[in-house]
Amino acid sequence: MSNSITVPSLWDDAKAAALDEPGLLLYRSNLLGADLRITNFGGGNTSAKVAMPDPLTGDQVDVLWVKGSGGDIGSMKLDGFATLYMDKLESLKGLYKSLDQEDAMVHALNHCTYNLNPRAPSIDTCLHGYVPYAHVDHVHSDAVIAIAASKDQVRLTQEIFGKEMGYLPWQRPGIDLGIKLGEMAKANPELVGVVLGSHGLFTWGHTAKECYDTTLRIINKAAVWLDRNREKPAFKGEKVQSLSDGDRRAAALRLLPEIRGRISKHERKIGHFVDSPEVMEFVNSNQLEALAPLGTSCPDHFLRTKIRPLIVPHDADAAALDKLIDGYRADYAAYYERCKHTDSPAIRDPNAVIYLVPRVGMLSFAKDKATARIAAEFYVNAINVMRGASGVSAYQGLPEQEAFNIEYWLLEEAKLSRMPKPKSLAGRVAFITGGAGGIGSAIASKLLSEGACVVLADIDQASLDEVTAGFGKTYGKDNIRGVKMDVTSEDAVIAAMNETALAFGGVDIVVNNAGITLAAAVEDTTLDLWNKNMSILGTGYFLVGREGYRLLKRQSLGGSMIFICSKNAVAASPGASAYCSVKAAELHLARCMALEGAPHGIRVNAVNPDAVLRGSKIWQGPWRQQRAASLKITEDDLEEHYRKRSLLQRSVFPEDIAEGVYFFASDVSNKSTGNFLNIDAGNAASFTR
Ligand SMILES: NC(=O)c1ccc[n+]([C@@H]2O[C@H](COP(=O)([O-])OP(=O)(O)OC[C@H]3O[C@@H](n4cnc5c(N)ncnc54)[C@H](O)[C@@H]3O)[C@@H](O)[C@H]2O)c1
Ligand SMILES: [Zn+2]
Repeated sequence: MSNSITVPSLWDDAKAAALDEPGLLLYRSNLLGADLRITNFGGGNTSAKVAMPDPLTGDQVDVLWVKGSGGDIGSMKLDGFATLYMDKLESLKGLYKSLDQEDAMVHALNHCTYNLNPRAPSIDTCLHGYVPYAHVDHVHSDAVIAIAASKDQVRLTQEIFGKEMGYLPWQRPGIDLGIKLGEMAKANPELVGVVLGSHGLFTWGHTAKECYDTTLRIINKAAVWLDRNREKPAFKGEKVQSLSDGDRRAAALRLLPEIRGRISKHERKIGHFVDSPEVMEFVNSNQLEALAPLGTSCPDHFLRTKIRPLIVPHDADAAALDKLIDGYRADYAAYYERCKHTDSPAIRDPNAVIYLVPRVGMLSFAKDKATARIAAEFYVNAINVMRGASGVSAYQGLPEQEAFNIEYWLLEEAKLSRMPKPKSLAGRVAFITGGAGGIGSAIASKLLSEGACVVLADIDQASLDEVTAGFGKTYGKDNIRGVKMDVTSEDAVIAAMNETALAFGGVDIVVNNAGITLAAAVEDTTLDLWNKNMSILGTGYFLVGREGYRLLKRQSLGGSMIFICSKNAVAASPGASAYCSVKAAELHLARCMALEGAPHGIRVNAVNPDAVLRGSKIWQGPWRQQRAASLKITEDDLEEHYRKRSLLQRSVFPEDIAEGVYFFASDVSNKSTGNFLNIDAGNAASFTR
């Protein structure tokens, strides 16, 4: 993305020449969505009116291709467009009589569907359909919204764009606004677009390229004009200065788990931290206290960020945080009560999404990482809007009742209720040591598939990179982090846990799993071999256990710790006394921590694997040769040997261990602590007693 004031044209004539009309529409949409200053993620929509054969008669009919409900123009594919018969869409005008029919008209749109396309049309469909031009763009450009969200929006639109742009005051999108927009375009052929008050921009053209060029030209005209004419420094200058990099990080590290704990009692939230220059300029400014409470202006912005953010002093202590967060909730409940209608949906989560911390930056929280990150991006859009608007006029948010009507719109509620049920570990953060190894990565995969965010901590950078990249592809980059860490280093463990808190806001599940196996008969056990086992498997489990426990305790949300021990934690084996002893120590540490953790809702349980050969790196090294030698069989016969040795006559795989970890990690086991679960296909020597 370019950092200059204007947005560059990305249009490539050679590429475009090969495309048909729907292809050109998609191409234009993806280009527009590639720059967040043109439109926010998921915001805006594009359309083209295309002659297509009717599937029943074969006759050419006019079809509106318009981005459907949901999705994002930057990443959408052709299946993201709804398609509607233009003549049917026109006929809705005859049905429509008054504003209270708006919701019914949205349902009527479904009857205009061309070619049984299952993509639901969005509420902006009529605004595209009724403009008498073949190509129409609607974007939420920061520069144009800055004008549209200022007190002088009418005068400024006129002054900046002259006769080529019209203006329509704020109105919730729907058929009524569509009719008005269409009539304005028809009556004023000199117009290339319209500024929608408190909302955004509509632009049009006869060809896809003309429309794209016009959209960019209008946005750039606004951006250049704003930059030339706005008051500098922005936001009336700096009131306080940023803390140093390290101190900002430290403050965020302290606040993230504290806030997360307070707002996650009913539904776990994932945090996100941003201290980019545009955020710092705003949170440190003289106008923060005046502007932030006005709320965001564009409907898309506040659906993601809530109507207003919460300002939090960087040194707020526990009592201050309680007061601020309780106060926000009470304000939100009062707003709901003031604005609700008889048929409004029930009040939703009353906690803030955006937390502005002068001198430190911005924290955001949502039900998953991508949503928290996108909320922060939206607030950056909102900051850009406030900077522009307050620099040339006075910024104004949307009237409260209008904001409420959008936030609690029955159609919006219907959209929310269609969302899939959250996964069992949604909003949870898991920290897994040895996460790049066989059992560790199987655990990570299971927890990710159940909706958790996962931090893999491992000493092996190459494996870590590979495993992290793989999970990023399958489960989304937002949800996975890799951190290089040696479990035996106190500093490294503290740093890794900090990185977890900074990346996701805290932790809920801590899996002690990193390990090695170095074995010898007792008389051949060197002090070095003994100490290596003790330090990685003993000290390592202690350090990770302690730091995880500390972070869990600070959030006051309870939590689950799972120690991967071994059959050898309860059953002695010959030729591996150091390993067996320290595995027993791990198990006992888990029990001691279960005792201390119980009053805080922190559960600590163990999973005991045995003979997990496939996928395990332990079983690729000297351990494999030693075991084969001591059993007097070939290495290739090891797996079969262990299978036959088990009571159930089955091999144990990393995925089997992951199921046990998932059981202890999830709420289904929330009345279980101090336990261990053998996953070894049955072994009488390790039966619990
Ligand atoms: N595989 C089995 O048969 C078996 C049986 C019983 C218990 N276990 C236990 O399961 C756990 C995982 O074993 P696995 O079979 O997946 O082995 P693995 O070798 O595939 O994975 C272990 C991971 O731990 C990492 N690691 C090693 N030392 C580390 C350190 N100092 N700091 C951070 N990371 C370090 C390694 O890089 C590796 O990625 C171990 O605790 C092991 O004792 C395994
Ligand atoms: Zn819009």
